[in-house]
Amino acid sequence: MINNYCNKILLGDCLELFKDIPDESVDMTFADPPFNLKKKYSSYKDSLELQTYLNWCGQWINEMVRVTKPAGSIFLHNIPKWLTHYAAFLNKIAYFKHWIAWEAPTAPMGKSLQPSHYGILFYAKSIKGTKIYELRQPHKRDRKQGYLWKDYGGKKDLLHPFGPLIADVWTDIHRVKHASKRDSHPCQLPIHLLDRLILMVTDENGIVLDPFSGTGTTAISAKRLGRQYIGFELDKKYKEISEQKLYQVEPNYKIGDCWVSFYRNEIITLRNIDWQKLEKFFNIPTAAKFIDYQKVELKSNVSIPTEILPENNQKTPPDILLPYNEKTQFNLFQQIETI
Ligand SMILES: C[S@@+](CC[C@H](N)C(=O)[O-])C[C@H]1O[C@@H](n2cnc3c(N)ncnc32)[C@H](O)[C@@H]1O
Repeated sequence: MINNYCNKILLGDCLELFKDIPDESVDMTFADPPFNLKKKYSSYKDSLELQTYLNWCGQWINEMVRVTKPAGSIFLHNIPKWLTHYAAFLNKIAYFKHWIAWEAPTAPMGKSLQPSHYGILFYAKSIKGTKIYELRQPHKRDRKQGYLWKDYGGKKDLLHPFGPLIADVWTDIHRVKHASKRDSHPCQLPIHLLDRLILMVTDENGIVLDPFSGTGTTAISAKRLGRQYIGFELDKKYKEISEQKLYQVEPNYKIGDCWVSFYRNEIITLRNIDWQKLEKFFNIPTAAKFIDYQKVELKSNVSIPTEILPENNQKTPPDILLPYNEKTQFNLFQQIETI
């Protein structure tokens, strides 16, 4: 039954579309809703009266929790102001796991404390038995000298060759800022942000549902990581952009048997449990202390997914995707910049 909805971006209002999704049928739900900040979407009016906005949020949050499997996870991305309301609501129907702070510096706004992060609320459907994998990210290094940022003092021998376990503050993924690197959508998320969440709580073929799909970031991440996706989107134009991009993405974000997240030619997220299988694909310094100044890199013969650009893609999209021509200059590998 749920398979009828998988690997599709469905056009319509999320509350209507949710009605067709059976209880406890998807592994992960992720929502990046309109922030009620008067953003210029092509269909949606992003300026509701406060209580109307919060009541509406309560309805789709309820649906997200309903459709999530017992071992599944629920993620909500928003500004801290709205997340405080979401958390109060979610605390009654799900189980708090983490508040992830995603660093995203903004232009000065003359506020007492400059807003510099978005939050991602991470809730579990059940009190126990949630599927969660530990993740690792590459060590942060001084750009010029190549030395590790963090001082490990006398504990260098304990350094993990690839990098530390990922914590709840994410500073290495930047917003999609430049017009040349984004679709014509006001709030497109970086795909690598979704890669990280999807790798953390789902397995291959797991189902990921996003009720505010936008230009398909969650769906693209799920597809390239060998997962299934369901996207809901109110706007026909955004659905078409998503489908054009999805057509060009392959489930190939893999090294050996292990799914990983790439940014350009480097892995930026992997699962801790996969390291034993993955380490043979890396050039690793002979002693742990050398990691302090020597980067652990993929071997040159390891094949990595190639950059996908519309102009050099050999696949011709089916007719149904052709009418949308407004913007085809996207580059999946340039959607974010890392520090
Ligand atoms: C913040 S954006 C999501 C952006 C998305 N994460 C991305 O990276 O492209 C919110 C999206 O929700 C859509 N939307 C607004 N109200 C909706 C509704 N009731 N049902 C489905 N989609 C809706 C808007 O058109 C917009 O594309």
